[in-house]
Amino acid sequence: MFITIEGVEGSGKSTQLLRLSERLRRLGLPLVVSKEPGGTPLGRELRRLLLEPHASGDAWCPDSELLLFYADRAQHLYAVIRPALAAKQVVLVDRFEDSSRAYQGASGVPDASLDRLSDLVLKGLRPDLTVILDVDPEVSLQRVEVRNLSLGTEFAETRFDHAALAFHRQVRERFLQIARSHPDRVALVPARDPVEQVEAAIWARVAPKLRHAGFEVS
Ligand code: TYD
Repeated sequence: MFITIEGVEGSGKSTQLLRLSERLRRLGLPLVVSKEPGGTPLGRELRRLLLEPHASGDAWCPDSELLLFYADRAQHLYAVIRPALAAKQVVLVDRFEDSSRAYQGASGVPDASLDRLSDLVLKGLRPDLTVILDVDPEVSLQRVEVRNLSLGTEFAETRFDHAALAFHRQVRERFLQIARSHPDRVALVPARDPVEQVEAAIWARVAPKLRHAGFEVS
């Protein structure tokens, strides 16, 4: 059972991922929790290269950025995701391919390039369920700002947090488009509601999938 969770920055993804993983652990399910970029030791190097501004001021061009995200994904699939799925574990991943389609797509990478890399790297593997937390970026970016202020900006800032609101609006549109195109795989969950309500909405989509796959969930 392969579950991914997606959404724009500040959508409450980390909180919900934590709550879902704690619930799955309490139920005693064999669970692997991971994230992209940076789900492996080498991937964490790529994560740093991708997300931290470089001292020289140099920045990745869209194609390089795309290839690095897929290099991270290939390694993650090879070292973590495929072995865990082969061992019949529940694999819960914070961001996966839909993030590339949403973010790199919004940066101008054509769908045809994304399709080619997906064929190469995913080799037909798709999540059984993808939860997309949907929220207006105007609201979610404010949350990110508050978080940055409370954490101290030197730790919390990433290059992506600085991108314009217009970019995040495009990212959200792409997530919505993905949800429309894959209604069987994707659960679109409004993320502005109180945390418990969002958690319940996610569980309402996850539990039947787990039951269907033969896992015991109450
Ligand atoms: P992360 O710190 O994980 O942010 P969040 O808490 O919002 O998940 O940062 C991941 C960033 O990388 C986020 O801005 C989205 C971006 N990203 C892509 O652009 N493409 C991808 O394929 C992935 C996996 C992430």
